[in-house]
Parts: sequence; C-alpha cells; structure tokens
Amino acid sequence: MLKEYYRDDLNAREAKEEIQKLTFYPMMFQASRIIKSTGILKEVYLNKRKGIFPAEIAEKLNLPLYGVTILLETGLTTGITYLKKNDAFSLTKMGYHLLFDEATNVNMNFTHDVCYNALFDLEESILSEKPAGLKKIGVEADTIYPYLSTLEDTIKKSWFEFDHYYSDRAFPDALKVVFEDKPAHIVDIGGNTGKWSIACCGFNDDVKMTIIDLPGQWEKAKENIISLGLQDRVFGQVGDVLSKDLSLPENVDIVWMSQFLDCFSKEQVVHILSNICNNMGDDTLIYIQDLFWDRQRDFAAAYSLHGTSLYFTAVANGNSKMYHSRDMYEMIDEANLEVIKDVDEVGKFHTILKCRKKK
Ligand SMILES: C[S@@+](CC[C@H](N)C(=O)[O-])C[C@H]1O[C@@H](n2cnc3c(N)ncnc32)[C@H](O)[C@@H]1O
Repeated sequence: MLKEYYRDDLNAREAKEEIQKLTFYPMMFQASRIIKSTGILKEVYLNKRKGIFPAEIAEKLNLPLYGVTILLETGLTTGITYLKKNDAFSLTKMGYHLLFDEATNVNMNFTHDVCYNALFDLEESILSEKPAGLKKIGVEADTIYPYLSTLEDTIKKSWFEFDHYYSDRAFPDALKVVFEDKPAHIVDIGGNTGKWSIACCGFNDDVKMTIIDLPGQWEKAKENIISLGLQDRVFGQVGDVLSKDLSLPENVDIVWMSQFLDCFSKEQVVHILSNICNNMGDDTLIYIQDLFWDRQRDFAAAYSLHGTSLYFTAVANGNSKMYHSRDMYEMIDEANLEVIKDVDEVGKFHTILKCRKKK
C-alpha cells in the first residue's frame, strides 16, 4: 500500500496551488494534446538548445501565430516548455515525455478518443449507475463490450492500444508463473483478440486453449488465430459470463482471466467466480491477473488506475472499477475460492492471484 494515501502533507500554499491546477485540468489536457498533434512541440524539441520563438514555428508549420503562442505559453505552467534567457521557448523533461513516452501517448489517446466527451456525463453516470457517456462514442447500450469491434476506427484503435499496452507487458512474466503448473488446457475468459492464447501457444508446444468471449470479439480473435495457423490448438466458445448457465469445456487445468474482472460490478464478479467454481473440477486452478491500485509502486500508476475507473463509470458499464486488492480477496472468498499464491509486479503493474476451491 502506498504510504501517500495515509497522510496529508502539503503545506497551505502547496495545497492551494494544486487545487487550482485541478480546476483547469481538462483545458490543459487539450492544450497539451494539441501542442503535440500540431507538430509545435516537435519544433521546440528540435530547437531545444538555442530555443525557438512562436513566430518561427508559426511560419515553419504554416499555423496561426495566435494559436502557437497560446499553446507555448500554456506549456510554461503545465511544465512542458520553459523559457531561455532571451525568452525563446525550450523543452522540459515533461515535454520530452509528452513527445516520446509510449504510455503517455497511449493514455492520452484513450482519454481523448474514448473518454473525454463521455466524461461530461460522469455525474449522471454516478447517480444512475449507468454509463451515461457511452452514447457520446456512438453506442446506445448499457455496456460497451458487445460493441467493441464496431466502434468508430479512431476510438477502436485507442481502446485496443490502451488495453493491449498494459496486458502485453505483463504476459512474458505471466507465462512463467502460469506454466509452472504445466497446464495442458487453459480457458482464457475474455480472451479479446487472442493475444494471451497465442502467446501461450508460442511459449509451450503442447498446450490447448479455449477462448470464451462475446460473439464480436471471438470473430476477431478467430481471424488472428487462423492467420497464424493455430486453429487446431486455440478453440472458441461464444458466451456471456453474466448468463446463469455458462458452462466450461471439459478437462480444464487453468481458468485464466486477465484484465477481465475489473469490467464487472462486485455482485457480477462474485456471480462469475461462483459459476466457474461450480463448473470446474476440484483440481482446476483459477488465475486472476489484474491491476490493483493499492499494489502500485508509482503514484502515476495508481493515478492512471483511478482514471480508468472513471472510464468504467461513464463509458464502459457504470458499475465496475479498478479494484483495491482487498475487494478482490473478499469477492474470491464469497465465491467459495481461496488464494494460494499472490504475485505482484507481473510486468510492472499487474498482480496474479492463483486460486482454488476452498478445501
Ligand atoms: C478489458 S478486455 C480484456 C482483454 C484481455 N484479456 C487482456 O488481458 O488484454 C475484456 C474482455 O472481456 C470481454 N467481455 C466483456 N464482457 C463479457 C461478458 N459478459 N462475457 C464474456 N466476455 C466478456 C470483452 O469482449 C473483452 O474481450
């Protein structure tokens, strides 16, 4: 648990400054995004030693001087630009990360393309426990999941890049943990585009996989599996885990769920886990790979997870979140399961909870 959450250690001046920053966050977010997307920040980077003036950038990029000036000046207080002695603009370390850091790029695109307009409806979402902002990305429904494959291209790209950025980085470590149990058959629930199942087949020559997902996602996964010639090892089962009668295939050694249970409310998670528990063999193991905000080493990681929870509220389904690990332990217990191994920093941010039926 991060110590920061157990103290209030800003002095009065710092506190006032921080809260004023917050009151302008959405505007500063857009300014920061646009200073990059217009190429202005790249020009500052290319001229960072001697600095560059707004008029030079405006002329080079054929942009209005007014807009270039506004964005460069805003950068001074957001921490993206700074002034040389002659008042020419240069790039800060933060500006460098805005330009080149992949996580920053992925998070920013997700926030802008998927969440930004929808978050205007956060209050309604909180009060109604429905994703009131989902309509802002073209989906009139109670949950985004059946419509992932039909999202408009830019929105879809940002959604999948965000999802994959984090799980992709966890998979190499996760493969080592999961294959310690020498599984012959793994069920990958919420298998999405098939990345984990494909990775398992690459890691082990014999393992068989079954992906369970909603129809639109399974169709996408199937294309990827066929294109790699893995159709004899990776099978699909279209199904909704929220339905009462979802069954598991025969002879399952491991049920794997990565970045999956955070897509559901507490009641739904208990329903899903109980259903798996009642359907699986006595020796079947459940591996839950998820991101818990209390387990993060860095402030930025916990902050990103709290932001992601707001996406769940206003966009995804109105009732799920990135959980505290204690919440997940309670849900596991309620489903008559117990945690027998707990591994942190899988990749950098994930936790794996290995569970079995209570003995
Ligand atoms: C956040 S993605 C997780 C993707 C992947 N497991 C990973 O680690 O990157 C959630 C996945 O769960 C699937 N899903 C959501 N609701 C579902 C439901 N009710 N039944 C089955 N699958 C569902 C979605 O289609 C999506 O593929």
